Amino acid sequence: MLNPHEWWRGAAIYQVYVRSFADADGDGVGDLAGVHSRLPYLAELGVDALWFNPWYASPMADGGYDVADYRAIHPAFGTLAEAERLIAEALDHGIRTIIDIVPNHVSDQHRWFQEALAAGPGSAARERFWFREGRGEEGELPPNNWTSQFGGSAWTRVPDGQWYLHRFASAQPDLNWQHPDVRTEHEEVLRFWFDRGAAGVRIDSAAEVVKDPNLPDLVEGADPHPYLDRDEIHDVYRAWRKLAESYAQPRALIGEVWLPDPERFARYLRPDELHTAFNFGFLTCPWDAERLREAITTTLAVHAPVRAPATWVLANHDITRTVTRYGRADTGFDFAAKAHGIPTDLELGTRRARAAALLSLALPGSVYLYQGEELGLPEVEDLPVEVIEDPMFHRTDGADPGRDGCRVPLPWSGDDPPFGFGGSPTWLPQPADWAGLTVERQSEDPQSMLALYRTALRLRRSESALGDGELSWFDGYGDGEVLAFTRSERFACVVNLGAEPVQLPAGSRVLLCSGQLADGALPPDTAVWLRLP
Ligand code: NOJ
Repeated sequence: MLNPHEWWRGAAIYQVYVRSFADADGDGVGDLAGVHSRLPYLAELGVDALWFNPWYASPMADGGYDVADYRAIHPAFGTLAEAERLIAEALDHGIRTIIDIVPNHVSDQHRWFQEALAAGPGSAARERFWFREGRGEEGELPPNNWTSQFGGSAWTRVPDGQWYLHRFASAQPDLNWQHPDVRTEHEEVLRFWFDRGAAGVRIDSAAEVVKDPNLPDLVEGADPHPYLDRDEIHDVYRAWRKLAESYAQPRALIGEVWLPDPERFARYLRPDELHTAFNFGFLTCPWDAERLREAITTTLAVHAPVRAPATWVLANHDITRTVTRYGRADTGFDFAAKAHGIPTDLELGTRRARAAALLSLALPGSVYLYQGEELGLPEVEDLPVEVIEDPMFHRTDGADPGRDGCRVPLPWSGDDPPFGFGGSPTWLPQPADWAGLTVERQSEDPQSMLALYRTALRLRRSESALGDGELSWFDGYGDGEVLAFTRSERFACVVNLGAEPVQLPAGSRVLLCSGQLADGALPPDTAVWLRLP
């Protein structure tokens, strides 16, 4: 029996991008009252927790990942009192709340950064950030060669001549984690939200927070890296773990840890650090049986020694929508990133996304579901340039399509935009042809993506073998193009990634299938959950 304090080991967690979930006050922007009104929907879907993208006061230079005040709710989303009520009422539906913590940077409107600008070079206020003189005779060149993840230099010059570091947009100055104020402040922010009932935090850019204070140029293969995965970071998370465990119901720490080396990744999950971290190796894996088997095996192998559960993620607010990715013939790394305009077959993509849903919901550990994934929404690839807000698009002059295409407001009901979302126009326009994808329409159709997710999540709860636990590969079953594993003597999952139908094990009974069996065989790009004899 799972210790209820360890709910995170096997939870199904639904990611709420507040701005695009549901709009109660009719301004075309989602809000907390909108989420509140849809709690019954989320409860019926069968999720255990909600992860809210940043809901704080923010100028929205990066969709709220530019936080001006970690203790205030963005006025367009609601009030602190509403957030408290939402956390409490979600729990009445059996749903926990995870909030997003952004430790790497703040908004340039944050009090600390405004103080630093006003105080000038050499001031104590600038020590909380990375202010430096430039290179070149007049200091006209950036202090080093680091680039922003959103394109261009990672440095911006201020009128007094100094430069400040920002690994993301220029409106997101990086904090100096060597500074004691930075550590104390974040621990207080964690307490602030834990005291208000947050069951855990998702930690943004968790492996990038600490920098080499000498800020050396980045040279290929540098070890240690000047800003990624530095050893000092682990002390920060050890302190956070103690804080999380000081609560009668310990809070969970979930890291956004993008690291190519699985062994380095697992170091964040040692028993006195983070509880879980997103598994991006699985998310970026192409639709290929061998590659997926390897990703799953490696994931489980690196988690085992630290006794942390794995997580399974197919989508989030940074990644091209699943059905669009899986419909592309070329499923190289790019398939997971933010490339638009590559031809996609949405029918194929949807079939695969359905199979991938059953696969990820059957794997051992916790699973994340990004709003709209349960509706099979495609990426919106033709947003008019004037409406695009993502700094990734603007800082690359459009060379990178950015991430707004997966952030379009959800379609709830009706035949035309805004499809029951709320006010119109919505902050990003919805495609006119989404009528068939609304919650209302899919609720009437037992074959819909929504129906599949509802049934799968219900079964996942009732099958004691699912969620946290062990996996055994079904040896000798099918050929290399089939993924087959058991979670107990009586439960198996089989996924056919090959071109030919596959016979199911003799005497097995179908619990749930992502498509239709053909003469009792499992067709290509289809997954099935089985009761074994
Ligand atoms: C990762 C977040 O998921 C992404 O949306 C954001 O732009 C960056 N971190 C910077 O905060």
